[in-house]
Amino acid sequence: MPVAIVTGASRGLGRAVALDLAGEGWDLVIDGRTHGPLDEVGVAIAEIGGSVEAVVGDVAKAAHRAALVGAAEKLGSLDLLVNNASSLGPSPLPRLEQLALEALRDVYEVNVIAPLALVQLALPLLQRSGGIVVAVSSDAAVEAYEGWGGYGSSKAALDQLHQVLGVEEPRLRVYVFDPGDMRTDMHQAAFPGEDISDRPTPESVVPALRALLASDLPSGRYRSSEVVA
Ligand SMILES: NC(=O)c1ccc[n+]([C@@H]2O[C@H](COP(=O)([O-])OP(=O)(O)OC[C@H]3O[C@@H](n4cnc5c(N)ncnc54)[C@H](OP(=O)(O)O)[C@@H]3O)[C@@H](O)[C@H]2O)c1
Repeated sequence: MPVAIVTGASRGLGRAVALDLAGEGWDLVIDGRTHGPLDEVGVAIAEIGGSVEAVVGDVAKAAHRAALVGAAEKLGSLDLLVNNASSLGPSPLPRLEQLALEALRDVYEVNVIAPLALVQLALPLLQRSGGIVVAVSSDAAVEAYEGWGGYGSSKAALDQLHQVLGVEEPRLRVYVFDPGDMRTDMHQAAFPGEDISDRPTPESVVPALRALLASDLPSGRYRSSEVVA
């Protein structure tokens, strides 16, 4: 069985991706900081039939990242790393003049430092399998929206790290994946008090990611809407 690590898999896009991969026969290592929801996803994956290690913890913590890669090693390999867990930062989204630097540091720890650290730990396993790395990004990485400077700049850094990784590791496929707007807790936090029920579900984005994984497209940045599902 191929093995994937999906971070931030207790809800939203990460949950949808993990359940979809399990249905396709993947074994999973998943994480999130909160026991209840993560355990529920673990049970759902086990019911589908695959092996699953649900590891509670914060991707910003080195010991937790080591536990994730250790769990994949125990499952026998690592074929896919999905750097999905992410922090929006303060809500409502502050203009740059009001963005607390400590809050920005926290966003960078989760959205930039942790994904790179996970890549560094996982690289020997990924090189062995000729695997795939996916960084879940955002249009806020490339568009300048008022209030989105902290989160958006972290996603821009995430994009660049993974695009350089794709050049440095030609035997891997490294995708920056922009899912577009989705009806999730993070999106609601970005638009507090607004009705976001018109946004697509995270499940509706999964076929595009699945198509990307199954493709022979070169490493690079892809919007979900431009990947043929
Ligand atoms: N929703 C959108 O419209 C949208 C648009 C563009 C891009 N994205 C990107 O899509 C990805 C998924 O977002 P989403 O909307 O599905 O978010 P979400 O519903 O808020 O889910 C985030 C997941 O990440 C986990 N998580 C958050 N911080 C973590 C940490 N420090 N360590 C470990 N797990 C952590 C959360 O669980 P815990 O809180 O229990 O840890 C949860 O499982 C993110 O990379 C986001 O930036 C989202």
